[in-house]
Amino acid sequence: MSEAQPVVVVEREGRVAILTITRPEKLNALSQQVRDEMLEHLATLENDDSVGCLVVTGSGDKAFVAGADISEFEGRSPMDQRHAMRFPRLYDVMATYPKPVIAMINGFCLGGGCEMSMSCDMRIASDRARFGQPEIKLGLIPGGGGTQRLPRLVGMGQAMRLILSGDMIKAPEAKEIGLVDMVIPHDELRTQTLELAQRIASMSPLTLKVAKQSLRASERLAIEEGILYERDLFCLCFSTDDMKEGVSAFLEKRAPEWTGR
Ligand code: COA
Repeated sequence: MSEAQPVVVVEREGRVAILTITRPEKLNALSQQVRDEMLEHLATLENDDSVGCLVVTGSGDKAFVAGADISEFEGRSPMDQRHAMRFPRLYDVMATYPKPVIAMINGFCLGGGCEMSMSCDMRIASDRARFGQPEIKLGLIPGGGGTQRLPRLVGMGQAMRLILSGDMIKAPEAKEIGLVDMVIPHDELRTQTLELAQRIASMSPLTLKVAKQSLRASERLAIEEGILYERDLFCLCFSTDDMKEGVSAFLEKRAPEWTGR
């Protein structure tokens, strides 16, 4: 059942948009309403030229996202579930999003929450965060890309361990195996994540998009094809005003002024 209040709020800090899931009493579990509101905000922010970078997080001190909302699974038929997993899927929209998206992981990051974080471009975690794919304990497997994205991030053995045991790991171990990129003292998580997000958002939006396109291509292309693709995109940058501006600004020892063209 839908909640009357919005369950995702968007704040702005300069060129950064922060999307916060606001169901702390349910550990920010991903209900259908959360997924629908996330998709709506992502669509709006994609077309908002004043936004250069997105940060996704959970409200409260305890959880980023503790998974799909398990209460919605009860009594569902396979076709009901198939309908709930209709396109566009949040995980895929995030994984192919043209602007940088940072997961700011402030607590439990489990199941669909861990999968959502893996769809983001970077994972920055509080030292209190915990990670896991506990679906096996419910008689389920990950359904938001976990069996595909986790082995690509941490290798097959670690992915097998996490998905087959349902065990949770703490932030330092998540960093050690490559599931998170940075671990930050809990009280500094927001400041440090937003500092990085602002630096990214201050770059040319056009060049950020091309850089992401090339990086993401590495997930599907063989190295030889990827290198050729990168070369073509690199040469394409020479057609942009922002590349001319970046080079001139460096040579003239001044800050560049990007136009996104
Ligand atoms: N879906 C729906 N509700 C959830 C939830 C989820 N994934 N995760 C937590 N909640 C709810 C709990 O039911 C509880 O609600 P209630 O107060 O109405 O009973 C509330 O959030 C707080 O959770 P609680 O279990 O009391 O907190 P805890 O600190 O004892 O345990 C966890 C925290 C994360 C270990 C535990 O909540 C948990 O195992 N959650 C499910 C994780 C999971 O299996 N995710 C994959 C789903 S496919």
